[in-house]
Amino acid sequence: MKFMEKFELLRHMSLVSLIVLILCIITPPIFATRNCDFPAIFSFGASNVDTGGLAAAFQAPPSPYGETYFHRSTGRFSDGRIILDFIAQSFGLPYLSPYLNSLGSNFTHGANFATGGSTINIPNSIIPNGIFSPFSLQIQYIQFKDFISKTNLIRDQGGVFATLIPKEDYFSKALYTFDIGQNDLIGGYFGNKTIKQVNATVPDIVNNFIVNIKNIYNLGARSFWIHSTVPSGCTPTILANFPSAIKDSYGCAKQYNEVSQYFNLKLKKALAQLRVDLPLAAITYVDIYSPKYSLFQNPKKYGFELPHVACCGYGGKYNIRVGCGETININGTKIVAGSCKNPSTRIIWDGSHFTEAANKIVFDQISTGAFSDPPISLNRACTSFVVY
Ligand SMILES: *[C@@H]1O[C@H](CO)[C@@H](O)[C@H](O)[C@H]1NC(C)=O
Ligand SMILES: *[C@@H]1O[C@H](CO)[C@@H](O)[C@H](O)[C@H]1NC(C)=O
Ligand SMILES: *[C@@H]1O[C@H](CO)[C@@H](O)[C@H](O)[C@H]1NC(C)=O
Ligand SMILES: *[C@@H]1O[C@H](CO)[C@@H](O)[C@H](O)[C@H]1NC(C)=O
Repeated sequence: MKFMEKFELLRHMSLVSLIVLILCIITPPIFATRNCDFPAIFSFGASNVDTGGLAAAFQAPPSPYGETYFHRSTGRFSDGRIILDFIAQSFGLPYLSPYLNSLGSNFTHGANFATGGSTINIPNSIIPNGIFSPFSLQIQYIQFKDFISKTNLIRDQGGVFATLIPKEDYFSKALYTFDIGQNDLIGGYFGNKTIKQVNATVPDIVNNFIVNIKNIYNLGARSFWIHSTVPSGCTPTILANFPSAIKDSYGCAKQYNEVSQYFNLKLKKALAQLRVDLPLAAITYVDIYSPKYSLFQNPKKYGFELPHVACCGYGGKYNIRVGCGETININGTKIVAGSCKNPSTRIIWDGSHFTEAANKIVFDQISTGAFSDPPISLNRACTSFVVY
């Protein structure tokens, strides 16, 4: 309807019908989004969203991990806060306790099942002898299932432990976040698979991802916030270990990033289908690749320098010959691979993880919904969209 026609229409309307019309305009249609009051967050994933899970099971990464914000190593793989911390903070919720942490944990507002080194597929090489976390996504799902039944029991029993668990209705009202897949791909490269071979494993990895999301849905989860995978080809871990990789114009290993892009494409499509299969769920795909990649495209714009060089570490072109916090002996002198002077001017903290400064910028971008499918913001991620 053109404006003038609308105007004509209004002029001929009675007061009553005008009020009815106004009510229709201001009453949100079924599609409208609403602000979500998430009382809890349950997180599944790997090191990018680990708040101390792997540290609880094995040991915390050494100092200077955590130096910027927590001033101690909390088990996070960064100098400070990670994106999940900013998500929790944005809802006024406390930082998530790792499910695996038996001391001092408070699960009132959720739990974190993510651990560094976690994969979607079941790994064939696990810590401490191998390289991956034993807590792959399927195990995290089993732990979550166990968490629900134990909290039900504890709630019935009452007492002090009952004050440390979520309310019963929090499980359906909570936000469920996922950030996993990077290790499945990187594991392939380090397992001597060619880029093509790793690329060919993507559909199977994504299928397993979806199976686990469905399983978690079947336990009552409804609001899903699912991160895509990162541009691994921009990280020192890939750049230093695969030096002959073809680089794009921003110095990132092109084909490694293409595999990440293929993973993300498959994930986005699978989630679109899942939205149709599970109409009661609000499923948001979050492209975390693009805002992370843009940091490498235009580091100066964000106040960053040396985009591909780890802030914490020692030696080599990418500063990761010795891992962050590790000690080496150079000609009889002990040297700790420490932090750069100012982590806030760096994108990369260690070989593959981002600094708090980078995490904050990425959080600010993804929380608006600008990188989401459907394009809804974090605080509206409880709205289900089914596009027929
Ligand atoms: C657990 O966390 C909640 C919410 O932050 C808080 O109100 C409560 O006091 C905490 N419980 C303990 C024992 O610290
Ligand atoms: C990959 O190849 C290297 C060099 O040939 C070898 O040392 C390493 O054990 C291989 N790794 C795997 C997981 O097969
Ligand atoms: C990965 O596989 C897809 C589907 O076959 C293909 O379109 C894409 O070009 C492949 N990417 C790489 C880097 O091999
Ligand atoms: C260790 O000492 C040797 C012999 O003095 C010297 O050539 C080498 O550069 C030293 N290495 C480092 C890392 O300083």
